[in-house]
Amino acid sequence: MIWHFDGRRTATASIIAAWALCLMAVWAAAARKPGKQEEGPAAQLSKAPRWARSLGNPYQGQAEAAAAGKKLFQQHCAECHGPDGRGLEHAANLHSPLIQNAPAGVLFWALRNGRLRKGMPSWSALPDQQLWQMVTYVKTLK
Ligand code: HEC
Repeated sequence: MIWHFDGRRTATASIIAAWALCLMAVWAAAARKPGKQEEGPAAQLSKAPRWARSLGNPYQGQAEAAAAGKKLFQQHCAECHGPDGRGLEHAANLHSPLIQNAPAGVLFWALRNGRLRKGMPSWSALPDQQLWQMVTYVKTLK
């Protein structure tokens, strides 16, 4: 392959690259600040808005919904949280007290929003019914 070295273009590219590096360094420094560190998996659950806390699960304790939720879970969630929900790599262990003690509405809210920065996708494209079914299933993992 033949490269044409266009001085101006190369200079622009290196300025952009330098900027990107600077931004990354600043971002990394901010992420390392004390206080941000305790943001482990599921730490955001404590930040759920009040309306989410008071949201009731329409399927609470219903075996049929839990079974439907289990299927959906295998389809959408198992690749990261493991087939049994115990979590793979940095995905949250859904058996943990933090998740199990969270109000159902908070888990619903967490699924809707995801936590993109930490690798948890948003599931807002799925119908509410399916989200509640998965919440019902997750609550059976106790
Ligand atoms: C691409 C990988 C991936 C998939 C797929 C995924 N998750 Fe997660 N999930 C994560 C990660 C990573 C975290 C930890 C995020 C953090 O640090 O808070 C997480 C966190 C969570 C939490 C804790 C709350 C939070 O936001 O931290 C719940 C509940 C959860 N996931 C449920 C699910 C369910 C249910 C599904 C299927 C609809 C699912 N996840 C699919 C990666 C994934």
